Amino acid sequence: MDAPRKPRILVAEDTPEHVHILIDTLRHEYAVMVAISGERALEIAFGQSPPELILLDVMMPGMNGYEVCRRLKQNAATCDIPVIFMSALSEEQDERQGLEAGGLDYISKPFRPVLVKARIHNQLELKRHRDHLEDMVRDRTRELILTQDAVIYGLGILAEYRDIETGMHIRRTQSYVNVLAKQLRDRPRFAGLFDDETLHLLMQSAPLHDIGKVGIPDHILRKPSSLTTEEFDQIKLHTMYGRAVVERIESSMLENVSSSFLRFAKEVTYTHHESWDGTGYHGLKGEQIPVSGRLMALADVYDALKSKRVYKEAFEHEQVVKIMTEGDGRTRPEQFDPDILQAFLDVHETFRAIAHNLQD
Ligand SMILES: [Fe+2]
Repeated sequence: MDAPRKPRILVAEDTPEHVHILIDTLRHEYAVMVAISGERALEIAFGQSPPELILLDVMMPGMNGYEVCRRLKQNAATCDIPVIFMSALSEEQDERQGLEAGGLDYISKPFRPVLVKARIHNQLELKRHRDHLEDMVRDRTRELILTQDAVIYGLGILAEYRDIETGMHIRRTQSYVNVLAKQLRDRPRFAGLFDDETLHLLMQSAPLHDIGKVGIPDHILRKPSSLTTEEFDQIKLHTMYGRAVVERIESSMLENVSSSFLRFAKEVTYTHHESWDGTGYHGLKGEQIPVSGRLMALADVYDALKSKRVYKEAFEHEQVVKIMTEGDGRTRPEQFDPDILQAFLDVHETFRAIAHNLQD
């Protein structure tokens, strides 16, 4: 079996005598690399086989140790390499300057080899623990996000099962919203609204838009003929029920955690049937409607037109585009935010592909 690889230590030191002592002290346990100038130390650190730790002399010809350390800390590839300063300067302020530059430890010259060894060992152990902790946090966070996404998605499907017996509507509308937001993110009017994190939260909340339908009786949800005014009033309530569910989640949360996810979830449940011209369920108009609701409104209308429903047959994609841009008496272009409608026209082929790939 191969012997385990020795950790690489870079000794950045220009005094030959010190270099020899350090090599002698360290070579049994570590693979020692030597740089006799600050510039050379940086070259090695940024190279193919960077060191696991750097012993860095403060006084070197050319670039001094503090400057080398600062440059290492500024670069993502090298900022985590532990640096131990070595210096004949032993004033307190020298030590402070070293620590401020990003060094983790400071050894005064002349040094005792056994002490150097112990300090190196300590720093490598600490680094190992840090890395392990970071890995653990990353894994757990990822797990948590995946679980959270799955649960949210599941809740959305639950509501959907009551209605059209498929989770595909949820996946499609989520994809449509995603495509629209990405198309709009570079427009000045929407600048800064859809950075990657916001987009993720929006995607997470989208499946919940109809969750309030769990509160609507089956005979209304599944009624094949047209609804009476009273029945339609009941259907409208799903936006209020949905928001109420999210508000209850919010109030049950410990402490005052402000969650952007819950904010989006509230917006999208309550406003996804609003119209830009104020003719929607709650009469919100224009910019009064949060952008999450405006995006979902268009996605939802496209999906309703493109899909078979208990009360209607599915339309072809071309016909849906025509209805949304010209109107058919029921759907009108004025009900959409004009920029979002334009974004839809720019990417309508992607909508067609999503509808095809995620059929019921
Ligand atoms: Fe809805």
